[in-house]
Amino acid sequence: MTADAAGFSAQVRELLGADAVLTAAADCAPFLTDHRRLYQGAALAVALPRSVAQVSQLLALCHAQRVGVVPHGGNTGYCGGATADESGRQLVLSLQRLNRIRSLDAANYSLIAEAGCVLAQVQRAADEADRCFPLSLGSEGSCQIGGNLSTNAGGLSVLRYGMMRDLVLGLEVVLADGRVLPALSGLRKDNTGYDVRSLFLGAEGTLGVITAASLRLFPKIRARATALAAVPEVRAAVELLARLRDASSDRVSSFELIPRIGIELTTRHIAGVSDPLDRPYPWYALCELAASRAADPLDALLEEALGSALTEGVVLDAAVARSERERAALWKLRESIPEAQRLHGAGLKHDVSVPVAALAEFVTRASQWVSTNVPDGLLIAYGHAGDGNLHFNLSAAPGAQRERFLAREEPVRRAIHDLVSEFGGSFSAEHGIGRLKVGELERYTSPVELALMRAVKRAFDPHGIMNPGKVLRDQ
Ligand code: MLT
Ligand code: ZN
Repeated sequence: MTADAAGFSAQVRELLGADAVLTAAADCAPFLTDHRRLYQGAALAVALPRSVAQVSQLLALCHAQRVGVVPHGGNTGYCGGATADESGRQLVLSLQRLNRIRSLDAANYSLIAEAGCVLAQVQRAADEADRCFPLSLGSEGSCQIGGNLSTNAGGLSVLRYGMMRDLVLGLEVVLADGRVLPALSGLRKDNTGYDVRSLFLGAEGTLGVITAASLRLFPKIRARATALAAVPEVRAAVELLARLRDASSDRVSSFELIPRIGIELTTRHIAGVSDPLDRPYPWYALCELAASRAADPLDALLEEALGSALTEGVVLDAAVARSERERAALWKLRESIPEAQRLHGAGLKHDVSVPVAALAEFVTRASQWVSTNVPDGLLIAYGHAGDGNLHFNLSAAPGAQRERFLAREEPVRRAIHDLVSEFGGSFSAEHGIGRLKVGELERYTSPVELALMRAVKRAFDPHGIMNPGKVLRDQ
């Protein structure tokens, strides 16, 4: 550590107490690389404040000394948004000690959670009060609310409840200069000028540090019906989704598209996963209906809708979960696809969305491009089809030369994202920008929108200390 780095760490120690500042390499290491190990950062120190007042003092200090601050949650992001750069001149700010549920108002269907609360903790708190907090992600046991807010997380129930942005009533944010924005209102109606709070959602810590949020709750889910439906093609899955929404009075809570290769990889690589159907099919949809009334006949509705789809060839076969154990097994199959792909070997990931009605055509065109141009690639396109969001990933096919396959990352990304853009879609449906997609944002966002983003950044963070280099390149 250089002399002025040591001096800065000493000042941070003075503010927070010695046990709240990590500088030893071994202690800092878990905070300095991202979940996918795309980036290896360095930092002046890792700070672990215990209160909003401490976060405020810390940012005032960093603002005065022009030290870059990298907010850090559960470190489950996919785009390196929480990883410091390699300069060793930034401070990592972990929110993990701000982990209290401050209050829960059952009548208002809301709770206030601090940024370091793990998502599962918030779900549990809501459940214990006979309410539901519906954000649901594969990483819910370790991702933190601050990260969910800052990345505007999506996941498995967006179709019914929206993204994180839609689940927020109010925020408390520490601004770049240390001032605190107290906007934790639980109001559902509040038409008072610009919606300043919404700018922090999806900003990935580049405009300020979210320290707490007032979150929307919903009635507790007491009835579910879940099935894995085999379909001949993506178009049929989209048709099935519309039928299920119609037949269930819009009680579809998840609708996940799974390709055959998804079943093959999970059954091969993940213990305890099995194919519930007795022969292979090209595509599958994991469908779930959910209701708050325990007596709602969701199983009957689902079976009836699947039965008529089967008669008309929209569905080829289906496995309906008969117990909680069978339901968990179907979800395990879906949720282990990313891990199975990782275990399978080198992969190229694309988190794209197109209008739901265009999904089938997009998959056809993008798959044709892959089979012509990446013959050593294995396409694994799965995801939240109910929202038009596909994880259009490629793995190296058996026998492929790993380095040669990975070297094609840039042209493959370009072709897929160009096609997405042609379909009016997004190159980052739910994983955000971080450091990984800064160039893509510049490329696919209109100059007018980019100019507005830069103006907002300058207004909120004039010295550019908030998560430098993420979302927008340094100016
Ligand atoms: C998922 O939906 O499983 C993740 O968002 C995507 C992934 O892990 O590739
Ligand atoms: Zn996803």
